[in-house]
Amino acid sequence: MNSTPAETKLDVFDLTPRIGSMIEIDVAALMSGRHAPEIRDLLERRGVLVFRGLHLDDAQQRAFTRTIGELLPQGDDGLLRITLDRAVSAAAADYLKGSFHWHIDGATDDVLTRASILNAKKLSPTGGQTEFCNSYVAFEELPETVKTAVADLQIVHSVEMAQWLVDPTPSYEDLRRWRAHAPKTHPLVWTHRSGRKSLVLGCTASHVEGADTDESRLLLRELTEWATQPRFVYRHEWQVGDLLIWDNTGVMHRVTPYDPESGRLMTRTTIAGEEPLAPRREIDRL
Ligand code: OGA
Ligand code: MN
Repeated sequence: MNSTPAETKLDVFDLTPRIGSMIEIDVAALMSGRHAPEIRDLLERRGVLVFRGLHLDDAQQRAFTRTIGELLPQGDDGLLRITLDRAVSAAAADYLKGSFHWHIDGATDDVLTRASILNAKKLSPTGGQTEFCNSYVAFEELPETVKTAVADLQIVHSVEMAQWLVDPTPSYEDLRRWRAHAPKTHPLVWTHRSGRKSLVLGCTASHVEGADTDESRLLLRELTEWATQPRFVYRHEWQVGDLLIWDNTGVMHRVTPYDPESGRLMTRTTIAGEEPLAPRREIDRL
């Protein structure tokens, strides 16, 4: 690709104009960590980075993750097994079905995780492609009038909102469980420390704080449709051994539906959040 600085040895190719780059690199060079600053920079600019056919094992995936940032302590020493197989975990399978819908990982937490890294171990014969949309560019290309109109909106995000999509007929206990995770309010437009702005949406987005629910859901639909237009989206057709890293603070993602019995298995590591969403304006606290 064109935008790679001349001094780097990284071979980088754009996958679409607005989102996604492929990096060609061998495992030893990747694991050395010497390209980490460039990878972090590309991650912010390109949203999702694809490494084909690396076939990293669990230890290598953890170690690579640590070259990029702080490995989030979750799952098996920082590594999660992403599968819909109920034999592995019924609760996790239900929760993960939420990933069929556009989302940001951990959108109901205080600080969004910085990036997620997914490593393909076993694929489903059908479905299971992962799609990413660039929510920086989606904001930048909004008409100026819309940017102004939505600039100060705060959005309430909840686990419950996402889980209604997975199960429209929850039991009373299910609903209590969904609600155990308190909703979080985030600005719709996130002004990052860099000064760049991105849209914070996804299937956890319930309504605009303080606004009429019907109207605010219409607005959320409209903005989600805008942000997920094909020109902002990269869709990954997986091969076993592919490693993807996405900027969880600047993209939304979803996986196309696949058979839970297919055996599809990904290992995931996560880079801890580095930047809180912009604090509420003083006036909101009064
Ligand atoms: C995730 C996720 C998508 C996939 O792990 O957060 O959304 O393709 N995964 O499995
Ligand atoms: Mn996800």
